[in-house]
Amino acid sequence: MKNDDRDIELKNVSVKMRKATILEDINFYANHGEILAIIGGSGAGKTTCLRVLTAQIKPTEGEVYLAGYNVLKEKEKLEEILGYVPQLEEVSAYPEFSALKNAYFFGKMYDLPKEQIKSRATQVLQILGFETEETMKKPFRELSGGEKKRVSICIGLINNPKVLLLDEPTTGLDAHLRIEVLNYLRNLNKRLGVTICIVSHDLETADFCDRIVILDRGKVVVFGQPKEFLKNLPNDGRSVRVKFKYLTVENQKKIKKIKPIKYILSIGRNTLKIFPREGKYNLGQLIEELYRLDLEPQELTEIEATFADYFRLVYQGAFGKKKDIFDIDFE
Ligand SMILES: Nc1ncnc2c1ncn2[C@@H]1O[C@H](COP(=O)(O)OP(=O)(O)OP(=O)(O)O)[C@@H](O)[C@H]1O
Ligand SMILES: [Mg+2]
Repeated sequence: MKNDDRDIELKNVSVKMRKATILEDINFYANHGEILAIIGGSGAGKTTCLRVLTAQIKPTEGEVYLAGYNVLKEKEKLEEILGYVPQLEEVSAYPEFSALKNAYFFGKMYDLPKEQIKSRATQVLQILGFETEETMKKPFRELSGGEKKRVSICIGLINNPKVLLLDEPTTGLDAHLRIEVLNYLRNLNKRLGVTICIVSHDLETADFCDRIVILDRGKVVVFGQPKEFLKNLPNDGRSVRVKFKYLTVENQKKIKKIKPIKYILSIGRNTLKIFPREGKYNLGQLIEELYRLDLEPQELTEIEATFADYFRLVYQGAFGKKKDIFDIDFE
């Protein structure tokens, strides 16, 4: 049975190859206009999910839907509804061609008229931050890693697909470029209304998505909306980032015992993210307590929790028994 709101769906999907179970009873979906992330470590089964979605693999069991079509029965519809962006090293863009010429070349494969390709490519490249025609006309080989990635996203969108799948769009990019690419994807999603599925190793991707599925060794361990998970944190995840001049393990233990504090996370050198207890969100009191312990905070910033923070707290057993299902090492 298909569900009309859902643009991406795997239902009870299992994939077995030569007796090995690669995916086991996988269920997840994304509604029309959402961004879904498939997150997991190496070998978790992420690419296999994409192969199932793009009908490259027929699952041993289960149903697969894209934009309302049954992928297993209506494979010929995929060309029309699907855009695909491979990992950067597999991008087949022509190095001597500019962004526009590459878009034109790939658009021709869909028999699109030249003018339509040009206006579509210009629109998408503009949303992707290619502001002038000059950058759109630069040869692909002269572009930076982040720019190349954005051209490959434009190529994936040239046929105006309903669903765009991206295999590891942020892998291999520096932290600031990862955020940049994710922000651009969010813009494309908002402006074009395209449903997006991002495959990623990084938990940070979750904060840019409406829905996430975390896979571990071929099974779904988490499926849901990141903002709903954050509601499990005190004060809906509002927290305080505190930087100290010097922070020992002993001092961290003392800080943990301060009454208005519920959880702490170490987030870098001498820096903690502090989650105050529900209803005790009193910054003044917190600062007073820190001074009383002779721990002078150097910098103090109010900050929202990320999904990765939540995940780390669950992993550390902060919520008790949930720990087992998060037994994943992404590093
Ligand atoms: N054709 C195949 N035959 C047998 N085993 C396979 C095949 N393709 C993948 N696998 C195995 O299935 C598991 C999942 O592979 P998959 O490529 O989906 O992982 P992934 O999450 O994409 O990992 P990575 O992050 O390294 O790309 C791995 O253990 C892999 O070795
Ligand atoms: Mg993979």
